[in-house]
Amino acid sequence: MNTSIVAVGAPPTFRQQVARSFGTAPETIEWVPTITAAEELLAPGAPSPTVLVLSPAVKDQDALGLAEYVGRTAPATALVVVRDRAPDGLLPLAMRAGVRDVVDLTQGSQELKDAIGRAVAWSEKVRGMGGEPSEARPGRRGHVHALFSSKGGTGKSFLAANIAVALSRHSGHPTALADLDVQIGDTLAYFGREVKGTIADLIAQGDNLEPEAVLSAGTNLDGHVFGYGSPPDPAAQALPPEAVGRILRALRSTFAHTVVDTPAGYSDHVLSVLDLADDILLVAMLDVVAVRHMAVAVHTLTSSGIPRDRFRVVLNRADSKVGLTPQEVERVTRVRVDALIPSSRLVPASLNQGVPVVSSEPRSPVAKSVAALAGTLVAASAPAPTTNAPKRRLLRRG
Ligand SMILES: Nc1ncnc2c1ncn2[C@@H]1O[C@H](COP(=O)(O)OP(=O)(O)OP(=O)(O)O)[C@@H](O)[C@H]1O
Ligand SMILES: [Mg+2]
Repeated sequence: MNTSIVAVGAPPTFRQQVARSFGTAPETIEWVPTITAAEELLAPGAPSPTVLVLSPAVKDQDALGLAEYVGRTAPATALVVVRDRAPDGLLPLAMRAGVRDVVDLTQGSQELKDAIGRAVAWSEKVRGMGGEPSEARPGRRGHVHALFSSKGGTGKSFLAANIAVALSRHSGHPTALADLDVQIGDTLAYFGREVKGTIADLIAQGDNLEPEAVLSAGTNLDGHVFGYGSPPDPAAQALPPEAVGRILRALRSTFAHTVVDTPAGYSDHVLSVLDLADDILLVAMLDVVAVRHMAVAVHTLTSSGIPRDRFRVVLNRADSKVGLTPQEVERVTRVRVDALIPSSRLVPASLNQGVPVVSSEPRSPVAKSVAALAGTLVAASAPAPTTNAPKRRLLRRG
């Protein structure tokens, strides 16, 4: 794989600066003076650069605009933005736009070296997903983790977004995040992003999609997570179960991990997600109605033939003082609770900020509990199964 690093923006000596900090000869680094020239390097058909490094002379707005453009046209190209001052408010905006790293040169050149190294490794990993079977695509089939709750508002979308980020960090592999709500899905709002196409675009491209086609249909959410969803359309028809199957197969043969957020309830397309999922995260909260929904779901889904060991019961907002404890939930329902996620005002704040809490506040108890849950999912999925255990179909085929 040829690594190509392009320095973008004045002065021309920025090229030497990048080369020096990366410990390489200046002629191995390409230099272009402007954003427009950088965009020309991303023409369809041409091999896309591994990393674009933007100089402090490139304005913040131009850097964000280029990041959006790279996300659309060359999703495997990593973008590193270099500033000669503390980036302050730029960081969340840059992450939302898909920038891999923002480097503050006042902290010395080691940071730039590390950032370029990480960017190269990330880009090569994403490109490697299109190659031979690798660690990233064990047995050419990744794992599908579905969030489910028959009751609305339990925290599925919050958990889906944050688990996707935590999974990609934990596993070291890019992860897909799919929102199957075609009417008014909001999973990608946790990244402050709109989808660039509809999830139906993937289906329209037919079967046996190549990983490159799957990647370019996704929205690069934070450098590691590729989002698939639909712009709001309350009149949209729910995806037919066959389409859901095709989408998830395309995603799992591209990504080591795919997280699927589902709308509340037992609609046919949700059941077809659960049918294909390797793990089902049943989300409940500490109120009697949500707990009853969770207990009924365990019973309904196991009676439909899904093995109990494929479920994990996740109690969200589990520390709420509402006269019901997790222990009482386990005793009354006789269902083991696998993960407790605390309530935190950081969650709505992160939604408003458009940066998942595991990225913006990784040391907070809520982020740590999501990261721990993602860790157990990664541990349980390695080594990946090459076949699915036989299971009864959930859907009645007519
Ligand atoms: N642990 C938490 N602490 C604080 N607020 C939370 C927590 N989890 C979720 N919320 C908030 O609760 C609300 C509902 O969460 P979310 O949208 O993720 O639920 P949902 O299950 O996806 O809902 P729907 O069924 O409508 O899709 C959101 O405003 C979210 O920010
Ligand atoms: Mg939701």
